[in-house]
Amino acid sequence: MTILVTGGAGFIGANYVLRRLERSQERVVVVDALTYAGNLESLAELKDNPAFAFERIDIRDADAVKAVFESTKPDAVVHFAAESHVDRSILGPRVFTETNVLGTQVLLDAAREVGVKRFVMVSTDEVYGSLGPTGAFTEASPLQPSSPYSASKAAADLLALAYNHTFGLDVVVTRCSNNYGPLQFPEKLIPLMIINALEGKKLPVYGDGMQVRDWIHVEDHNAAVDAVLEKGRPGEVYNIGARNERYNIDIVKQILTHLGKPESLIEHVKDRPGHDRRYAIEPQKIESELGWRPAKDPSTALGETIEWFMANASWWERVRSGAYRDYYEQQYGNR
Ligand code: NAD
Ligand code: TYD
Repeated sequence: MTILVTGGAGFIGANYVLRRLERSQERVVVVDALTYAGNLESLAELKDNPAFAFERIDIRDADAVKAVFESTKPDAVVHFAAESHVDRSILGPRVFTETNVLGTQVLLDAAREVGVKRFVMVSTDEVYGSLGPTGAFTEASPLQPSSPYSASKAAADLLALAYNHTFGLDVVVTRCSNNYGPLQFPEKLIPLMIINALEGKKLPVYGDGMQVRDWIHVEDHNAAVDAVLEKGRPGEVYNIGARNERYNIDIVKQILTHLGKPESLIEHVKDRPGHDRRYAIEPQKIESELGWRPAKDPSTALGETIEWFMANASWWERVRSGAYRDYYEQQYGNR
């Protein structure tokens, strides 16, 4: 069995690949363009693993994608690659449409052509838009994306389902809530706040900080992706979430408390345009159909993540200095 993982040098993808190769020696081919968010150092421990292969390919490049599908003949695709940051999508939406929509179409076409047996489309709960104070997203909730990021993910998610409906490609879609854990790029809320707090810098909270996100540890997300890969029904959508809603401000305060830093570091800054107020996932379908349950204890998992960032300062210092971008050339030359 060969699994082709797109975006495997990013936060969730790298955790996925590391986790998979810890558990089995099935071949994993990572396809990743190594954008600013792709960090091959996260996968450095796999470089001599014969079950692991890395291909630096942009998913918008149809010829390169087709060639890698033909040469590796994957049985399954797990598609994580995306432009993933809402704030960047507000500053420059175009690459979001290119990578998230067109890139996904390129992959779906290649998957059809070589006869991939299963295509897992990693979508997001943000396709549903924002909730009021009560209720939670189910798979039947209407898609009402708010940001260029979430709109591009909704387009990709629907395109993947259309390939199932129209062409019979075996596609399953996951819609997960906000992830946290090791290796997350420090532009996202939790790693950004941890690193700023460690350095005694201000913690920029958008607006009143009373927005709600439904946090899940990346390992629980990835276990759910595997459950969907192995047991999900073709053409179905599975929400993934850990029933762990938190106000942003409470997350920020918890980080400060854990690090023994003062709340005076919090700085309320201008709100994000079009900011979604609340996300909450109803994960009943994946729990009852596929038997998946989150394994991480939310009362300790954020603390563990903070400890990971404290213990791995060299990882994020190299991200911030840009040194991580040299690793590919050192490791793979100009290939
Ligand atoms: P990330 O930004 O950390 O990683 C994205 C990866 O995709 C990087 O390695 C990058 O190099 C690669 N990539 C980007 N453009 C590419 C292109 N054109 N060709 C090839 N590779 C390219 O993202 P993440 O947080 O790990 O998210 C992974 C996936 O999970 C995304 O599809 C995202 O929409 C989805 N998701 C994320 C969250 C979350 O909380 N982070 C929640 C739900 C769903
Ligand atoms: P983020 O990690 O960007 O994820 P998403 O926007 O995809 O949910 O942000 C999580 C929440 O934290 C979101 O409500 C925006 C807020 N936020 C801040 O208040 N300050 C920040 O510096 C960042 C990056 C996010």
